[in-house]
Amino acid sequence: MWKPLALTNGTPQWNPAYMKTDRLTARDIVAMKSEGRRIASLTAYDYTSAQMVDVAGVPVILVGDSLGVVVQGEDTTLPVTLDQVIYHARMVARGSERAMVIGDMPFMTYQISTEEALRNGARLMTEGKVGAVKIEGGVDVAPTVERMVKAGIPVCGHLGFTPQSAHTLGGPRMQAREPAAALALLADAKALEAAGAFAIVLELVPAMVAEAVSKRISIPTIGIGSGPRCDGEIQVFHDLFGLYTDFQPRHTRRYLNVADQITAAARRYLEDVNARTFPGPEQTRDLTAESADAFSSLLEKKRCCEPA
Ligand code: KIV
Repeated sequence: MWKPLALTNGTPQWNPAYMKTDRLTARDIVAMKSEGRRIASLTAYDYTSAQMVDVAGVPVILVGDSLGVVVQGEDTTLPVTLDQVIYHARMVARGSERAMVIGDMPFMTYQISTEEALRNGARLMTEGKVGAVKIEGGVDVAPTVERMVKAGIPVCGHLGFTPQSAHTLGGPRMQAREPAAALALLADAKALEAAGAFAIVLELVPAMVAEAVSKRISIPTIGIGSGPRCDGEIQVFHDLFGLYTDFQPRHTRRYLNVADQITAAARRYLEDVNARTFPGPEQTRDLTAESADAFSSLLEKKRCCEPA
């Protein structure tokens, strides 16, 4: 069970009138790094999946724009809109009590201007009920991150393979493989840290580079496809539990094969309905014997209502 860092002997240190929750916040996630606690994170996109992940004790839930691929069936994350992330984030916030919920800022909701980033980040927090937002990019977005953090919007960065730039990067492939690119990634991470980001997702980065970055910044790195030496790990719900079967990223591990199980169960259901064994007596309620007799005699009298 997570011990709320903001609680001392069970006594809230904040005025409950301002923050009626003991949900983890960005500060708690940063503290986990300094305490040497790993930060296991998962995506979720609706109420029920968020409930399961939260009850399991996962401290961070990301409402990722990966929902475009694994929920909507798009080829990339680019078509996902801010309204859609807000819609999913509300469900995730409702389904979770303890985890910090981070909402992804979709393509072009923060790149055009800092003002738009502030407006859209605020919508994600107030309408989507998230505790933080995630944006892709390093040195280029650092000034925006700084303004957002100062305005009260905790920001998680995202470096390495950044899915919103999939077309520019030529698809999901390892980044920072050359020493100069690895140094540039470190500079990006440092810029995000200086701008006030509370964590950075490192996607598809060589393990040694991810480790070097993790050791050189005070905020947590959350890896995906970046080896075991990040401060935490994030995976997509549908990949980990085998719900999305079009493609299996190399960096994931299948803990369940839910799609296979559901397909097999759906076949059994189909057979049962066709064989008239479902619904069975346990799923059926009927008239009492007395009402059944009365109903039958009514039907007999009403000749207009003969069975077809
Ligand atoms: O959108 C997403 O789910 C993500 C994670 C894969 C980090 O960005």
